Amino acid sequence: MQIQEWKYKMAKILNGTTLSEKINKKTKEEIQKLGTHPHLVAIQVGDNNESTLYIKHKSSKAKELGFIFTHLKFKEGITTMKIVEKINEMNINNNIDGIMVQLPLPENIDKELISQSIAPWKDVDGFHPLNKGLLDIDRAELIPPTALGVMELLKEARLNLKGRHVVIVGTGEISGKPLSKLFLNKKSTVTMCNENTKDIFEHTEKADILVAAVGKKHLIKNEHIKEGVIIINIGITKDESGIHGDVEYDMMLEKASYITPIVGGTGPMTVALLLRNTLLCHKLK
Ligand code: GUN
Repeated sequence: MQIQEWKYKMAKILNGTTLSEKINKKTKEEIQKLGTHPHLVAIQVGDNNESTLYIKHKSSKAKELGFIFTHLKFKEGITTMKIVEKINEMNINNNIDGIMVQLPLPENIDKELISQSIAPWKDVDGFHPLNKGLLDIDRAELIPPTALGVMELLKEARLNLKGRHVVIVGTGEISGKPLSKLFLNKKSTVTMCNENTKDIFEHTEKADILVAAVGKKHLIKNEHIKEGVIIINIGITKDESGIHGDVEYDMMLEKASYITPIVGGTGPMTVALLLRNTLLCHKLK
């Protein structure tokens, strides 16, 4: 009788819960050493349930680490200029260290004008054009938290990025675009796919590192990746059966070499780096 030999491989997990706890612990210790309470303001416009939930997470973690957290909520229908006026006030308020505006914003709000109105040194989300430009030339101090979180996860796993082919599906301001710059700064080769890309899978199949930041349930399946790829899932979708990634996570565990879990991957990293950015703003002051 012939004994079947099984070569059983499993992807290593890029654990965002563990790493974010490590980062949060350092942030908390530093705050205690400074003996201060950095102040973060999160602006919400309207009643988007997801936004309310995200801000709640940020608020409870911020308070746990020793920050002051203000949730500033505006009614849907408020004008861009009214929000800008409030931001202008907060820009010159020495008791406020960081300001962020939760996305998405209602259609009538000029998102770019809002980003431009936040003082660059209080811009914890790294969305101000000055901070974006500094990222272009690899001199940014305030980097969008989700994108920075991905780089921290790769760094923790000691993965070499130089010369690796990175394919990013999704070109949003929160993760896809800033990640493209961060990878370029690390001398990776970067391909960006958007909704008009003719055949995204033609690109995903070639990726050494695949980043999915779209928010479309199981858009990328096992047959769309190559053996040994590093998978970074950012986009999530919620439905009655639970929370799902842009990638079909379970199916990829034996094909990928590294993978972020759908829950406990890039999500907790975003909060940890938002708060680390707030502490940085406090120190820059
Ligand atoms: N909405 C979803 N994620 C984010 C984020 O990282 N920053 C902001 N400002 N809004 C978001």
